Amino acid sequence: MIRSLKNCHNTMQLRELARRRLPAPIFHYIDGAADDEITYRRNTAAYDECDLVPNVLAGVESIDMSTTVMGQKLDMPLFLSPTALQRLFHHDGERAVGEAAQKFGTMFGISSLGTVSIEEIGSRIKTPKLFQLYFHKDRALTRNMIDRCKEAKFEAMVLTVDTIVGGNRERDLATGFTSPPRLTLKSLASFATHPAWAFNYFTHEKFELSQIKDYAKDGTNIAMSVSDYFTNMLDQSMDWQAAEEVCRYWGGPFALKGIMSVDDAKRAIDIGATAIMVSNHGGRQLDGSRAPFDQLAEIVNAVGDKIDVICDGGIRRGTHVLKALSLGAKACSGGRFYLYALAAAGQAGVEKALQNFRNEIERDMKLMGCRSVKELGSHNLRFR
Ligand code: LAC
Repeated sequence: MIRSLKNCHNTMQLRELARRRLPAPIFHYIDGAADDEITYRRNTAAYDECDLVPNVLAGVESIDMSTTVMGQKLDMPLFLSPTALQRLFHHDGERAVGEAAQKFGTMFGISSLGTVSIEEIGSRIKTPKLFQLYFHKDRALTRNMIDRCKEAKFEAMVLTVDTIVGGNRERDLATGFTSPPRLTLKSLASFATHPAWAFNYFTHEKFELSQIKDYAKDGTNIAMSVSDYFTNMLDQSMDWQAAEEVCRYWGGPFALKGIMSVDDAKRAIDIGATAIMVSNHGGRQLDGSRAPFDQLAEIVNAVGDKIDVICDGGIRRGTHVLKALSLGAKACSGGRFYLYALAAAGQAGVEKALQNFRNEIERDMKLMGCRSVKELGSHNLRFR
């Protein structure tokens, strides 16, 4: 049984620690996905359909795993996707995640549904940071978030395009998970059995959706499921023209998150995007949709020379990153791998997760006879 952070050598062990530290509704919000969770499982399983073919005798005493994506140089080819509600998972929330990313010289994102403000993150974190935008019905709110990011000198913006309605997250329906957590008999019982979490949650600054709270009470004072938030608050009329306007209004490095088809990847180039995040939102939206890694080659072959392609989701091992880079992704990203770590042990946890990945990627590159990520290509990958 995993009892401490130092014994967490991989993502699944960090997950186990998170499971024991968190009240069940919160753990299942992170861990769960849509419908039967088939897409969620496939996101990771897809990496097992192919094998790496190493070269040897390459003189690998020093290797360079840095990459450049959206104009940002990252010291490692894996970054931390924006995720919501982080202070529910650990009282330091986005602060802990940002500081850990800064230490490892990789990018991280904060969410429109973040719990630490754009301004605070902007002044704390000097390494590349991106902001994830949800296109709200309230256009003034949407514009306000972009203005604040300009002011706070965020390096990049990603517009999420796969949450036009809420996914069917049946674990959340079963546990009654809401933001903020509703105090029912059942949830109080799960807080009582996780006293350390409950102590920290109730003795630190009050929970809030920092980017939203001046415009809407939903999610901060009015308890709501994330799925209902998407359905009620986001603008279902969002289309390519709206995305283009956001891209132009922002005026800096810009990505669409949740692109899965070649046609849409081409349109992303047309509207001026710098990158696409090939993603199905961690399997949390459309169950039965394809995994990013399964769809990667098709997209890279069509647009990889014109736009940065990021493979988002399912990453649990350094070899998964090497496989995606071999198919032409500029970088990989993920949410759960660091959220488990955040829940397990705050900033130290996220640092442990990043250290594990850095060790794995370095070891695996050496074993592949690869001195720089540029040397990875489809020549060193075979599908079974
Ligand atoms: C999710 C959102 C908030 O729960 O990204 O999937």
